[in-house]
Amino acid sequence: MIVVFASSKGGVGKSTTCAAAGAALALEGARVLILDLDQNRTVHRWSQKFPVDRLMVEAATADNFTSIFKSRHGAGDFDHILIDLAGARELTMQKAIARADLVIIPAQASEPDIREALVIAGDIRDIEETATRKIPYRLLLTKMYPLRTRVSDFAFNELARLGLPMFKTVLVERTAYREMFLNGEPPSKAETGKGAGLEIATLLDEIEEIIDPMSHAQHALQAAE
Ligand SMILES: Nc1ncnc2c1ncn2[C@@H]1O[C@H](COP(=O)(O)OP(=O)(O)OP(=O)(O)O)[C@@H](O)[C@H]1O
Ligand SMILES: [Mg+2]
Repeated sequence: MIVVFASSKGGVGKSTTCAAAGAALALEGARVLILDLDQNRTVHRWSQKFPVDRLMVEAATADNFTSIFKSRHGAGDFDHILIDLAGARELTMQKAIARADLVIIPAQASEPDIREALVIAGDIRDIEETATRKIPYRLLLTKMYPLRTRVSDFAFNELARLGLPMFKTVLVERTAYREMFLNGEPPSKAETGKGAGLEIATLLDEIEEIIDPMSHAQHALQAAE
């Protein structure tokens, strides 16, 4: 699958979520490529310092994105390609979204973040017209307070009112995410089956359900047996 992490806002958790999801898939046995288009190269530097088996992170730029993407995708060496974008609305964002099976828009539960997410959703609909295919997208609430607050209630109500599709999974503000780029431990290793590890697992489950409902149903059946 090809999953793009996009938002025009910085610091919402694109790189963190992308790296955590990529590492979780690789730890499960998949061959994963993360294309790092974030100028900060956060994910690329992390992977150089703390390599994860079967997870390759390659830095790309607006100029070489298409050629790198085509050669990696065409070679078929990876089960999944995740794309981490810069926190800006720019040409690379359009190029990446046009290739996506799913776009994830991380956002905090705040009015400005939700407005920004609406803008990206509008961009995706424009790109769908030129791509002449549906490009699914979901908003992902990140860095949430663990307890329900007026702010989170506002976010959920506002998202429902605006008709923005969102993940049921939300990522709570947790040390395991914050520490990943410092100590290298992906959340699914640091907190296997609980906390951040569990959140990433449920997020991946939802992603599969959206992109590949048949496989998801089969996996759910196997798990129930
Ligand atoms: N769920 C979370 N819990 C705690 N800290 C988080 C969480 N998600 C992200 N962070 C922290 O928030 C900061 C910004 O996260 P990140 O770099 O992933 O954002 P970004 O959207 O990629 O930003 P940019 O647009 O600048 O690339 C980092 O310090 C990261 O450790
Ligand atoms: Mg980033």
